[in-house]
Amino acid sequence: MDDLKRAAAERAVKEYVQSGMVVGLGTGSTASFAVHRIGELVSSGDLKDVRGIPTSARTATLAEEAGIPLVTLSEARPHVTIDGADEVGPDLTLIKGRGGALLREKIVAHASDVFVVIVDESKLVESLGAGPLPVEIEPFGWEVTLEALASLVCETELRMDPADARHLYVTDGGHYTADCRFASIPDPAALEGEIKRIPGALECGFFTDLARAVVVSREDRVETIEAG
Ligand code: 5RP
Repeated sequence: MDDLKRAAAERAVKEYVQSGMVVGLGTGSTASFAVHRIGELVSSGDLKDVRGIPTSARTATLAEEAGIPLVTLSEARPHVTIDGADEVGPDLTLIKGRGGALLREKIVAHASDVFVVIVDESKLVESLGAGPLPVEIEPFGWEVTLEALASLVCETELRMDPADARHLYVTDGGHYTADCRFASIPDPAALEGEIKRIPGALECGFFTDLARAVVVSREDRVETIEAG
């Protein structure tokens, strides 16, 4: 699996990252291969004057270790962002956030000229909702927000910290995450609208109309699926 993730990441870096660019750096195991590859190319001098905008504290640490200079959204906007996904639907609508960084990932992706997704073929689905939809929520009144999410006819679960299951998972922004299991999701954009009408629901894991391309690695090849 790691080989497939690495292959997708390296193809995306080769196709989309050039010297002089500001690059949004995604979060998760697949995105970390892209961070490593950019770091290698910066170290070897094949990429010059590249700066990264990390989507999480974890990625910031990785990028610093890899030798990629970092900037913030106050200083620059990404020419391209490369990030992983949990599910990729046929129209390149995504579910993201099972790795716990969806709000910052979405902010960076939305601010980017080009958003490129890197996945192995196991992430491709016929319709979204094979697994839970993460929703980043405000801790204040989380009980009310969870009830409101459940009223959209899903099973909700407040995420625990994968590193310490006695504690709730807290995002870099200080928020909780509600994982919402729907029996089916016929219209992701409509559901996203309903979720966003809940005041405590800060952002959900649907990424609609954001991905310009998805680089998919399969056992026998790597292919790029362009939007539209
Ligand atoms: C983090 C994410 C990740 O990109 C997503 O969970 C995929 O991660 P991985 O590449 O480890 O499977 O959305 O919030």
